[in-house]
Amino acid sequence: MGFPEDYADRVKTINDELMRSFEVIENVNLRAAMAHYPDAGGKRLRPLLATIVCEAFGGDPDKAIPFGVALEMVHNFTLVHDDVMDEDDTRRGMKTVHVEYGVPEAILAGDAMFARAFEIVLESDIDDSSAVRLVEILARSVRLLADGQQMDLDFEDRDIVSPDEYLEMIERKTAVLYSAAAQGGAIVGGAPELPQEAMFEYGRLIGLGFQIWDDVLDLRSDQETFGKPVLNDIRNGKKTLIVVHALDTMKAPEKDRLMAVLGKKDATDAELRDAKDLLESIGSIEYASRVASEFVSKAKDKLKALKESPHKAALVAFADFMLTRSS
Ligand code: IPE
Ligand code: IPE
Ligand code: MG
Ligand code: MG
Ligand code: MG
Repeated sequence: MGFPEDYADRVKTINDELMRSFEVIENVNLRAAMAHYPDAGGKRLRPLLATIVCEAFGGDPDKAIPFGVALEMVHNFTLVHDDVMDEDDTRRGMKTVHVEYGVPEAILAGDAMFARAFEIVLESDIDDSSAVRLVEILARSVRLLADGQQMDLDFEDRDIVSPDEYLEMIERKTAVLYSAAAQGGAIVGGAPELPQEAMFEYGRLIGLGFQIWDDVLDLRSDQETFGKPVLNDIRNGKKTLIVVHALDTMKAPEKDRLMAVLGKKDATDAELRDAKDLLESIGSIEYASRVASEFVSKAKDKLKALKESPHKAALVAFADFMLTRSS
């Protein structure tokens, strides 16, 4: 028992709502491209988080489902565009949208999903003032996310990136959807202002841990388990916390060997493996894992704002899942 196993029924409800929201799309090709990732799988972490926070404040979790589905829609839209940017060919164990349908259709599918997210919130059965706040949160999240994704691209071309710059980048590209989920869930659950802020912080901190762990899995997992290509962060020259730490710690000639493979689009498997082994032996992967678990611990401290309940326990398990997940 625990997270996420206990929430299988809720995931089913979320999926039904998500799939239903594509029915309004008239063009069958566009609809197919939009539904491609939701159909392929995914963990539904952001909608689950919104519903669990909602019930932790005594709210009806079903009331948070539309906002959760809207976040999942935004998440999937950003994945479609992210896979174009990162030139990835596999996600959730399937071909990526731009590989299956072409880049022009991937751009359109993303655009339509982005718009659909806002409609889902506005069509939902919540009071007007909560709806305005949720729309504000969604819009802010997408704006910051684009900022973070641009920083991620900018850093590919830079040799030196500081740990703080990396953290600012992942706060924007990844953690914003977790803080939005937790804050939005608190709003729907009727939480007062201060606990809402505590939930925002909880979401932000688990989101940071989540992205650092994603960077670890890119190196340590395999495509079969991860559902997406591995070692592509090296091929793309991504300045993950792991790489930032390694470049700061290593000396020649190992550092030169790593630099030569970072961002080398046609790197061979042997070169990528060598780069991974260098990162492992200098202790950078261990270092990043430690930082990730510190964020998760700090996130759990924020749960003091909640009274004891099974839902609070679920939020502790949710935070731990960030770093035990393998896909
Ligand atoms: C993947 O997110 C994108 C990142 C922010 C690293 P998830 O790991 O939540 O992806 P799905 O939705 O379960 O496929
Ligand atoms: C995740 O970045 C951030 C967004 C998708 C917005 P990644 O590029 O690491 O995500 P994956 O690994 O492709 O899922
Ligand atoms: Mg990316
Ligand atoms: Mg990517
Ligand atoms: Mg990644």
